[in-house]
Order: sequence, then C-alpha cells, then structure tokens
Amino acid sequence: MELLILVPCSLFLIALIKFLYDYLWVPLSVQHMLNSQGIKGPPYRFIHGNNKEIIKMRKEAMSKPKALTHDMFPRLQPHTHSWIKEYGKNFVYWNGVRAELVISEAELVKEVMKNSENVFPKAKPSVYASNLLGNGLVMIEGEKWVKHRKLTNRVFHGESLKNMTPAVIASVETMLEKWKGKEGKEIEVYQEFRLLTSEVISRTIFGSSYLEGEKIFVMLNKLSIIMSRNLFNTKIPLISKLWKPADLLESERLANEIQDCVMKIVKKREDRVVNGEADSFGNDFLGLLVNAYHDLDDKNRLSMEDLVAECKTFYVAGQETVNGLLAWIVFLLSIHKDWQEKARREVIEVFGNQNPDSDGISKLKIITMIIYETLRLYGPTNGLPRRVAREVQSSY
Ligand code: HEM
Repeated sequence: MELLILVPCSLFLIALIKFLYDYLWVPLSVQHMLNSQGIKGPPYRFIHGNNKEIIKMRKEAMSKPKALTHDMFPRLQPHTHSWIKEYGKNFVYWNGVRAELVISEAELVKEVMKNSENVFPKAKPSVYASNLLGNGLVMIEGEKWVKHRKLTNRVFHGESLKNMTPAVIASVETMLEKWKGKEGKEIEVYQEFRLLTSEVISRTIFGSSYLEGEKIFVMLNKLSIIMSRNLFNTKIPLISKLWKPADLLESERLANEIQDCVMKIVKKREDRVVNGEADSFGNDFLGLLVNAYHDLDDKNRLSMEDLVAECKTFYVAGQETVNGLLAWIVFLLSIHKDWQEKARREVIEVFGNQNPDSDGISKLKIITMIIYETLRLYGPTNGLPRRVAREVQSSY
C-alpha cells in the first residue's frame, strides 16, 4: 500500500525536478553566463522565452498602414530591429527554451560562416523546415553534402547557365506580352514574378513547363507559409509529444503528396527510356538526378528520398529567392525614378531593340549595381541559422 503511493510520488517529483531544470535552471544560467560576457538581450520568460513578445510585435508592425518608403526593417523584423537598438549588434533572445544569439557584426558573421574548425555546423531544422526541404543541399553537411554538391555542381557552371538564357528570355517574353494588355492598370508584380520564376526553374532545371510542376510549386508555397507562421511557436512540454497540431499534420500531408508528384515525374522519364522513346533520362538537372538514382555504384547512388529532397531544394531555393529579389528591385526602382531612368538607358544602349544575350548581360554595370544594392538592403535570406557544437572563444 505504501509502495503504491510512493512510486508515483517519486516519479512525479523526478519529472518535476527535470522540468524545472530544463525550463528554468538551464536558461537562467545560460542567460547569466552570456550577460556576464557582455551579451545582453530581452529576459528569458518561463517556457515561452520571448516568442509571445515577438508574435505581438510582428502583429502590431504588420497592422500599421504601409507607406511608400523602403524603411522596411522595423516592419518585417520588428523584434530584431528594436533589440539591436536596445542591446547592440549582437544580442541574445529566447526561442522558447532555446537561446538564440543574433549576430549582425560583419567580422563575427564571417568567422561563423567560415566555420574553419567545424565549430558552427548547420542548425537542426524544425520539423516544418524538414518537411519543406528534406535532406537537400541546404540542410545537409559532411560527406553527404560533398556527394550531393559534386552531383549538382554542373548546374552552376558558367556554360550551363549560359545555355539557360534562351529559356529565361522565352519566359520573360510571355510575361511581357501579358503586360502589354494592362497598360495604365495596376500589376501585382510579386505574383507575376512568382509565375515567371516558377516557369524559369521548371524549364531550365526540370526541362518541363510550369504546368507540370505547378502542383508541386503550389504545395511548396503552402509548406513555406505553414513554416513561417510556426517560426515562433513554443513547444509545450509533454503536450507537443502527445498531440500534433493541425499545421504539422497538414505539412506532413503536403510533404507526402509532393514526394508522390516528383516520383510520378521521375517514372515518366524512366518509362520513356524503357519504351524506347528516349535514349537517356535527360540532360537537365532532373535527368542528372535520375541517372544518379540508377547509378550502379553504391557510393554515387542517390536514394529516391534524396532525389525528391534535391528537387524540392532547387524549386524552393531558386524560386522564392529570385521572386523576392525581382519584386524588391521593381519596388525600389518605382520610388527611385532617377535610377529607373539610368537602368532603362543602359539596357537600350547595350541591346537596342534586341533581346538580351549572355555576353551583353555581363556589360550591364548599372543593372548589376541595382541588383547588388537590392540584395544588400533586402536579401531574400535574412538569417542563416548555425549551431555551436562545442565551447569556443571568438577571435574577434
Ligand atoms: C537572389 C537569389 C538567391 C539568393 C539570395 C540565395 C541565397 C542563398 C544562401 C544565403 C544560401 C546559403 C544557405 C546556408 O548556407 O544556410 C544558398 C544556398 C543554396 N542556394 Fe541559393 N540563393 C539564390 C538563388 C538560388 C537559385 C536560383 C538556386 C537554384 C536554382 C539556388 C540554389 C541554392 C542551393 C542548391 C543552395 C545550397 C548550396 C550548398 O549548400 O551547397 N539559389 N542560397
């Protein structure tokens, strides 16, 4: 009788101590250690860290009326903006129970990204990021990264990029043709560039029209939205292990459906070879991946899961980034009409009324400056998460 009561009581006590250790003792001691090294930040709050504050600040910032200005940082990243002002260029905040050190001092960023002693590996992705990109290049490291990178390098070679120019021109022409009918009317450029970049990726990387990859793009877009709205969701201990929220279920469903779609496209390529309609799986990126999937050498062979992950990576990494960049360029040119005029003059000087070609593109100095400045102001990737693998002293 005594034993029956004692066992659950002591189990409960151990669980409670472990809980308080993980959710109170560890964060408070990490906070104390960082503070004593001069790294400040908003104080840790029990279980949620600073997530509730971040969500509130983002909601408030987005609800303010939009002005035609490009002072967007406080609107898009209100928490980072206000904490840099309050605590300095490098500060710590709490994503739930996890301390995140934000570094925006260039020399320190360089040191971390160089990762010369493998102290700063890639951060463990959230389950949402894994569903979006799987084990694609952006997520992997070490030998697996070397293998995938060797395989995909060919796509980034100058000659391969040059060969893509006609497909890019064809897609831009289709878009501009559509715009002709809209003279004097408003055009939602972000959506237009979404279609354009999806089409260019489909044609250049997957050798198909947008229609074939459309379903995949739509699902990847949904996955990105789900991932970004869960960036600052706190995992409640125990409950998160017992219950899957609707977003998680939906992201798993989408990931499975994307896998099925890619497998169908692969099967089509295989069937064409089997039926004698083609003598290879193709020279585009997908062909390269399907070849690797059939490689007889174990060392070089790619699993179907990895093939799907690389397809998703190229769809997402190539589309979302360029989509955002193009939209920002057009936005900035619309408020800096003098640069718009300079850009127009340069393009007419180099190409006249002809379509662009890769040699001429390399002569576009002002356009290149505009692209670089837009990337500096509104880079499509606004942060690169890295882990700290062991105790380290910064040389900076
Ligand atoms: C404005 C355009 C782009 C920007 C700003 C951009 C930015 C980045 C950044 C910052 C990374 C590093 C991620 C990390 O280390 O955590 C990266 C990696 C990558 N990007 Fe892009 N990207 C752009 C366009 C593209 C395009 C067009 C493609 C392909 C079609 C692409 C494919 C990739 C791939 C495959 C990786 C992983 C590379 C590796 O780890 O070896 N990106 N990109």
